[in-house]
Amino acid sequence: MSGSCFSFTVTATDGAARLGHLETAHGPVETPVFMPVGTAGTVKAMMPESVAATGARIILGNTYHLMLRPGAERVAALGGLHRFMDWPGPILTDSGGFQVMSLAGLRTLTEDGVTFQSHIDGSRHLLTPERSMEIQDQLDATITMAFDECPPFPAEKQAVADSMRRSMRWARRSREAFRQRPGYALFGINQGGIHPDLRAESAEALTALGFEGYAVGGLAVGEPFEAMLETLEATVPLLPFDRPRYLMGVGRPEDIVAAVARGIDMFDCVMPTRSGRTAKAFTRTGDLNLRNARHRDDPGPLDPACSCPACRRFSRAYLHHLVRAEEILGPMLLTWHNLQYYQDLMADLRQAIGQGSLETFLATFHATRAQGNG
Ligand code: GUN
Ligand code: ZN
Repeated sequence: MSGSCFSFTVTATDGAARLGHLETAHGPVETPVFMPVGTAGTVKAMMPESVAATGARIILGNTYHLMLRPGAERVAALGGLHRFMDWPGPILTDSGGFQVMSLAGLRTLTEDGVTFQSHIDGSRHLLTPERSMEIQDQLDATITMAFDECPPFPAEKQAVADSMRRSMRWARRSREAFRQRPGYALFGINQGGIHPDLRAESAEALTALGFEGYAVGGLAVGEPFEAMLETLEATVPLLPFDRPRYLMGVGRPEDIVAAVARGIDMFDCVMPTRSGRTAKAFTRTGDLNLRNARHRDDPGPLDPACSCPACRRFSRAYLHHLVRAEEILGPMLLTWHNLQYYQDLMADLRQAIGQGSLETFLATFHATRAQGNG
């Protein structure tokens, strides 16, 4: 059986951009979609019903964090991640390798996998493609990510090639170890840095294995914006048209709209949530920092076009006060607003693609964002 009940349908296109519909064991998802990051079994500072109220339908969880605390076996015994965190909708989990490289202590990479020290208590652990598949299964991930390695930027081309080829061998082991169930999916991850020939080799290896979806990894790791766009333009057309395409860890609103225009369907990023906890807000007219004294006496809303509680019920002056007083409601309201902003942006993109007016939308988006009202 190969993932019956999990399906992806492209319902409209506008240039390279696609409007799509995903069916999963935990409900449908309209694409292009932004997945809020719920690393440790919570979208930080948000109740799950508040996450859903922003329009989010699918969230991301992390193998790395949850295997260390509270442990995948424990989550499984408690009924899986959906029940544990009371998020009944789809959950995509990242496979761990990327987080090991950015967070863990002493790491040893071999063909088998990666051994590392926990950033929490220094304990030693081993992640392999097989163990990552097992953990994501125990978590009850709707979408499981293949176990991969993301090389740093910049890196020698030969090192990027060696890393990509190992990730492709790990992708095969992930595919073989994955326990397929109806409505659940395994996504492969394309690697190869900013080298079109390596990206092409990776795309060929992944499509030969056959995945329910395809991610583009190894981007937004410090390369110039233009290099990311050129890599997408070289890579996305090599991925199967009829499968969802996921750009991992991206990004700013400007990155997302550019990637949607180049055929990406799914995104995740800590930017709206992390920024919210550091007093940064995204608005239709630009980004601003609520810590700034210019907001101290401003009775107006953060973003007059936004429907979230931070914008409907409170002034910029009040949000500024919460930030300065280090009140916990500050990060809560700004996280909510930023997630609302991202979900509204995705809804606007879907509407524009459906109407065939993406180009017009993008022109207005950039002109309005450049006003910079911060
Ligand atoms: N998140 C952001 N980039 C990556 C990547 O290249 N691989 C994985 N697994 N997760 C990511
Ligand atoms: Zn708002």
